[in-house]
Amino acid sequence: MAIHRCCVPFVLVSLFVHFVCAEIQLTKIRNDDRPIIPFDEFGFTHTGHLELNVTNIQLSNPNPDLDMSKVGFILCTRDDWMQVLLQLEDGYIDCALNSDFIKLVLEFKSLNGESSFNTVFQETNADQYTLVFANCLNQVKVSMNVRSAMYNLDGKENRRDYLSAGETILPKVYFLLALVYFILAGIWVYVLYIKRLTVFRIHFFMLAVVILKAVNLLCEAEDKSHIKRTGSAHGWDVLFYIFSFLKGVMFFMLIVLIGTGWSFLKPYLQDKEKKVLMIVIPLQVIANVAQVVIDETGPFGHDWMVWKQVFLLVDVVCCCAVLFPIVWSIKNLREAAKTDGKAAVNLMKLTLFRQYYIVVICYIYFTRVVVYALETITSYRYLWTSVVAGELATLAFYVFTGYKFRPEPHNPYFVLDDEEEEAAADQLKLEDEFEL
Ligand SMILES: *[C@@H]1O[C@H](CO)[C@@H](O)[C@H](O)[C@H]1NC(C)=O
Repeated sequence: MAIHRCCVPFVLVSLFVHFVCAEIQLTKIRNDDRPIIPFDEFGFTHTGHLELNVTNIQLSNPNPDLDMSKVGFILCTRDDWMQVLLQLEDGYIDCALNSDFIKLVLEFKSLNGESSFNTVFQETNADQYTLVFANCLNQVKVSMNVRSAMYNLDGKENRRDYLSAGETILPKVYFLLALVYFILAGIWVYVLYIKRLTVFRIHFFMLAVVILKAVNLLCEAEDKSHIKRTGSAHGWDVLFYIFSFLKGVMFFMLIVLIGTGWSFLKPYLQDKEKKVLMIVIPLQVIANVAQVVIDETGPFGHDWMVWKQVFLLVDVVCCCAVLFPIVWSIKNLREAAKTDGKAAVNLMKLTLFRQYYIVVICYIYFTRVVVYALETITSYRYLWTSVVAGELATLAFYVFTGYKFRPEPHNPYFVLDDEEEEAAADQLKLEDEFEL
């Protein structure tokens, strides 16, 4: 049965992640004979509404004898969808529209030959639903323009809230986090001013990264809150993507630069370290393009899966690449400790870099694996918890990095006295030999 094969990707995909694309969606369907076309997924509260406006409906076979009760829109939760599939498998029903596990929004029979309709469907059972178009007619292709808007009514004034039940708190979360980063930036400026004699270029770089992160969060808060109120993104998403890109590039550069010890261990970058940067920066460009496509097409778009995989791959490569400079630094420090005899200072640096290495790995692991797992196992209503967990991990990472690499006159690590200069010069020679 064709219907089963076509359902497989939908089912597989939906098993892994909660996707919630909360915006009003406009979709053009052209000569499509898929038996199941998934549109949009949304977490309803008990005041859920689906507004569906469909125009220009055309069937490839205009025969009036067709059974139009086999074509229509339905809402279905993920668990119920499994039941529908079982029923189809058992031959208990021959069309998803006939199942008693689905909520029928509109069957085309009730159109009476008209080519467009508008409808509002109310859903009072709180759950996460997917809007699905089912076409159980064999070899009948459908064309139509679909506008779907899902929202919950909020508060006493019954305002529309276009963010899914698990996301509706996100604008506040992002705004609070932005505030925290602005405060961190303020504290950092103060620290830089107090310790201005021991400040290196890398410290200004850190300031830039924190400010970018704060602005990025602010844009995300504004973007989400605009979607919440109106159902469309309206400009803020562009700013958000721009700052996401800048933040992404600067963030990875910062990890690489700190990893190499640039500006406080040595004023230059080795060739292989530059190569890491030259790999990471273009990859970040690709990652950001992929992110834009992923966000804009939604989980049921044609190339969504491809871009998602591109994004994951690029992200993994970036994360691995930034670890190399830290490993090289650790190796160099070990070598230097053997040759120059200043065990104490070198041990201190070594410890710092080893700590940093472990923290970077933990950070990557947490934000990529743990957050993903949280996203998968939490109920749709608590989707925001995985966002909060990821952001708190990031915040902790920023604070750790700032604290450990702060400008510090009493820390022998940062005091480049004559001896240390010599040591650095020795190390420089040593590294040059390596290069040759
Ligand atoms: C969609 O349909 C609803 C319900 O009939 C209607 O109130 C709304 O104005 C329609 N929207 C558009 C853009 O046609």
